[in-house]
Amino acid sequence: RDLYGPERTNSKGVEFGRHASLDAFLAEIKRSAQQSFKAEPLIDGKAASGSSRPVISPIDGTTVAGQVTEASPEVADRAMAAASAGFAKWSRTDANARAKVLQRAADLLEERRGALLHLLQVEAGKTLDDALSEVREAIDFLRYYAVQGRSLFGTGEAMPGPTGESNVLRLRGRGVFVAISPWNFPLAIFLGQVGAALMAGNAVVAKPAEQTPLIADLAVRILHEAGVPKAALHLVPGDGRVGARLVEHKDVAGVVFTGSTEVARIINRTLANKDAAIVPLIAETGGINAMIVDATALPEQVADDVVMSAFRSAGQRCSALRLLCVQDDVADRMIEMIAGNARELKIADPREIATQVGPVIDREAKDKLDAHVEAMKRSAKVHYAGEAPSVGTYVAPHIFELNKPHDLAQEVFGPVLHVVRYKADRLEDVLRAIEGSGYGLTLGVHSRIDATVERVVQALSVGNVYVNRNMIGAVVGVQPFGGHGLSGTGPKAGGPHYLLRFATEQTVTINT
Ligand code: NAD
Ligand code: ALA
Repeated sequence: RDLYGPERTNSKGVEFGRHASLDAFLAEIKRSAQQSFKAEPLIDGKAASGSSRPVISPIDGTTVAGQVTEASPEVADRAMAAASAGFAKWSRTDANARAKVLQRAADLLEERRGALLHLLQVEAGKTLDDALSEVREAIDFLRYYAVQGRSLFGTGEAMPGPTGESNVLRLRGRGVFVAISPWNFPLAIFLGQVGAALMAGNAVVAKPAEQTPLIADLAVRILHEAGVPKAALHLVPGDGRVGARLVEHKDVAGVVFTGSTEVARIINRTLANKDAAIVPLIAETGGINAMIVDATALPEQVADDVVMSAFRSAGQRCSALRLLCVQDDVADRMIEMIAGNARELKIADPREIATQVGPVIDREAKDKLDAHVEAMKRSAKVHYAGEAPSVGTYVAPHIFELNKPHDLAQEVFGPVLHVVRYKADRLEDVLRAIEGSGYGLTLGVHSRIDATVERVVQALSVGNVYVNRNMIGAVVGVQPFGGHGLSGTGPKAGGPHYLLRFATEQTVTINT
C-alpha cells in the first residue's frame, strides 16, 4: 500500500486477540512510561523560558505526568511574530511536499505509539480503549488531510473562459492561524487542527489546553521531525489568558478553536472588535445531545448504545449523550435495562485493561459535576447512582429522570445521563424542545419505523445523526464531524470540505 499515494485507508490498531501481542503491547507502553516528559514554549524550535509547574495526573491526584513551562504574554507575541516570518516560505512550499510531511508525521505517530498512549492515560486519564482510538484518529486526520490537500492545493482549477484568456482558481494559506484546543482529545483534536492549518499552507501558533500540554509538546516535536519547518509551527502552552493574547494579536489571519461555547463567543467578540482585516473563526463547541427512543426500538441494543454513548470516556466527549427521550409505553423497561448495563461498568484506574470509565480531567471538573449530581438528587428521580474510587478525580455515573427536556439547559460534561419520557402523540413537543436549546451537535434515534426516523431527522438541525446505533466515535473520512448553532460554526472535521475553511481563494486571469 502506498501511504504517500492517493489511496488512503484508516489505521488498523492493535490485535488484542493474541495474548503474545497484548503482552508486547502493554510492555511497550510501560517502557515509554520510564521517559520523562516536559512541555515548553517552542518558538522556531527553540525553548523559551517561563513559569514552570508539574502536570498532575487525574488518575490519583499525585502522580506527576511531567513538567510544563507556560508561555508569558510576551512569549505568545514572539511566537506570533516568528510565525508571520515563517509563513511566506511554507505557503509557497509545494502541496505535495506539505502532504508528504504530514504522512511522515503520521508514520512517526505510529512508531511512538507507546509514549502517546502512556500520556493519554496518565496526563488525560483515558482508558486504554479510548487512548488507542485517539491515536488512531490522530493518524487518520493527518493522512486524510494530506490526501485531500494534495488534490485541493495542487496546480489550481482551470475555469472556462474566452479564447485567448486563461482563468485559474487557486487555493492558498491565509497567514498565521491560531489553533486553540481542548483537553478531551489532546492529541487527535490538537493534531487535526494543526495538520489542517499546515496542509492549507498556513503558519501555525498552537495553544493546547492547560490540562494537557505534554502530549501537545510531543506532537509538535514529531511534526518538526517529520519535516514541518520550525518557522511554520510554534507551541505556546498556557491557560486561557495565553489563548486570548494570541487571538488579540494584529497578525492573526484565522482562528481554529475547539472547546466550550462560552469561550468561542469570547473569541468571536475579540475578532469582531478588531480594527483590522476581518478574521474568520472556525469554532467547534459543545452540545446538549439527545437520543429519541420509540416503542419499536430494540431494548437490548438501546441499553448497550445508551451506556456507551453516555458513559464511555467518562462522558467527556462533545458527542456524548446527555438527554435520553423515551416513549412512555416502554420507558420503565428501557430505563431498567440501561441502569442494569450501567451497573456492570468498571470504574477504575484507566491503566487497568478492563477499566471502562476513568477519572474526569481535574478537580474543578469533578467539583462542578458533583455539585450537579447533588442538585439533581434533590430535584429529579434517581434511577442509578454508581460508585467511584475516592482517590483522583473520578465521578460516579448517574441516571436522573427529569420532568421535561427544558430542565436540562446546559451541557453537563461528564458521566451523567438525563432521561425524559414522552407520550407517542407528543413527540413534536420533545423535538421542539431539543431544537429550542440552540445546540446542534449529535443526535441519536432508535426506531424501526422509517417515517419516524425521517421526521426526527428533518425536525432537528444537528451536525451528526446516528440511527439505531451509539452516537460517539465519528470516524475520519467516514463521519465528518461538527455541529451548528451553539455547537459551532459548522466545520466538518475529517470531511472533504474542512481544509477549505483554512484557505483563501485566488483567481488568476491571464490574457494569453
Ligand atoms: P474550554 O473552552 O474551557 O477551553 C478550550 C481551550 O480554550 C483551552 O485551550 C483553553 O485554555 C482556551 N481558552 C480558555 N479561555 C480562553 C480565552 N478567553 N481566549 C482564548 N482561549 C481560551 O473547553 P474545555 O473544557 O477545554 O473543553 C471541553 C469543551 O469542548 C466542551 O464544551 C466540549 O463539548 C467541547 N468540545 C467540542 C468538540 C467539537 O468537535 N464540537 C470536540 C471536543 C470538545
Ligand atoms: N469525534 C469525537 C466523537 O465523535 C468527538 O466522539
